[in-house]
Amino acid sequence: MDGKIFDNDISKVVDADRAHVWHHLIQHKPFETGEPRIIVEGRGMRVWDQKGKEHIDAVSGGVWTVNVGYGRERIANAVRDQLVKLPYFANTAGSIPGAIFAEQLIDKMPGMSRVYYTNSGSEANEKAFKMVRQIAHKRYGGKKYKILYRDRDYHGTTISTLSAGGQDERGAQYGPFTPGFIRVPHCLEYRAQWDLSGEEYGIAAANAIEEVILAEGPDTVGALCLEPVTAGGGVIVPPEGYWPRVQEICKKYDILLHIDEVVCGVGRTGTWFGYQHYGIEPDFVTMAKGVASGYAAIACCVTNEKVFDMFKDDATDPMNYFRDISTFGGCTAGPAAAIENMAIIQEEGLLENTVQMGDYMLDQLKALQDKHKVIGDVRGKGLFLGVELVSDRATKEPVDEKLVQAVSGDCAANGVIIGASNRAIPGFNNMLAYSPALIATKDDIDEIVTATDNALTKVFG
Ligand SMILES: Cc1ncc(COP(=O)(O)O)c(C=O)c1O
Repeated sequence: MDGKIFDNDISKVVDADRAHVWHHLIQHKPFETGEPRIIVEGRGMRVWDQKGKEHIDAVSGGVWTVNVGYGRERIANAVRDQLVKLPYFANTAGSIPGAIFAEQLIDKMPGMSRVYYTNSGSEANEKAFKMVRQIAHKRYGGKKYKILYRDRDYHGTTISTLSAGGQDERGAQYGPFTPGFIRVPHCLEYRAQWDLSGEEYGIAAANAIEEVILAEGPDTVGALCLEPVTAGGGVIVPPEGYWPRVQEICKKYDILLHIDEVVCGVGRTGTWFGYQHYGIEPDFVTMAKGVASGYAAIACCVTNEKVFDMFKDDATDPMNYFRDISTFGGCTAGPAAAIENMAIIQEEGLLENTVQMGDYMLDQLKALQDKHKVIGDVRGKGLFLGVELVSDRATKEPVDEKLVQAVSGDCAANGVIIGASNRAIPGFNNMLAYSPALIATKDDIDEIVTATDNALTKVFG
């Protein structure tokens, strides 16, 4: 940090922000008297705010995005060069970075074959939903149109992705919703819905999906959309036995499997994609955040060739193709940044680092559980971890969310930005969340865990 930016009068920026910027996911009344946070600069794992205060960022840009860390000149240079050469052309035509990144991506995704470019996770999911609906019309007389989604999962912010949203506080007040989206139970064993454990629990949670399919009628269900590891809904790693049974059920009832890798994709859990831990064969994989680590907006809806073929099998029918466009899916900055992002992960061994540091961080957080009885559960995979806070370990009563905010607030005051669940599950916004960049070291993790330890002591004694 060279300090140069603070030679300027940043108070003008703060005034402009307060007067005109509508921030995301936040109530603005406090900004009438206090200042909004403005992040000015980032390097590696660290960011600096408008006061010059340094923070270690344990959530990769707030929402698990900046996987390779800040200040990567290599990505910025590639984007610059590409923008000068060609910034944009609609994806009705191809582009050099679009073709190269698609090939490299598919190389990491055996069984998949086609990349549809778009510009946000929500939009990538909408593309998959539209494909499912069109397949229903083409193949099943419009009947197999229903899309199943899981309690606690999140797939985006548009009305239709909220219709597939298992987080009721995100959806509240935004209805009416798009018809044809059906909820299945979550698979969080800590909040058990069946008196079983381990693999038996996982199989029961998957069987609960089958029950919904049978109740709806298998000939009406076109797809099942799931996060490989649920993110904002509570960092939920499905139990053993869950995924093989889910795959079996999809095959049995001819249901397309859509895996939403918007958070897990591109390294977050220590494999290129979260589903790859479980040997799943998806039909759709959507991804966004970590694809270019936020250096440029890019999202992808990736399909297998079976799905793709259904949109070109009859060239004599003028309606028989995917009649969809995403204007900014034609921006070349996204794939140009994504190529470098992937190369960095590969060359720096960041998947391996994620596994090692993820295990270390999980152990450290579990050690905190011995000390703080407010920690009911610690869970996660790779550098994607959550801590569930309860006021009573026996009843698992969630703590008041204000106390969760107090913990994250104290960490921030001490220069450590962690996540806290926010307007997700009614009564269960009781998670602390961690998703440091995949470059995290033991020292970084120690700093994050120590700040959490101190904050828990301060708030809960
Ligand atoms: C699992 C998941 N899917 C989809 C989305 C939506 O992505 P975006 O905000 O880019 O539209 C998110 C965003 O947090 C997410 O966590």
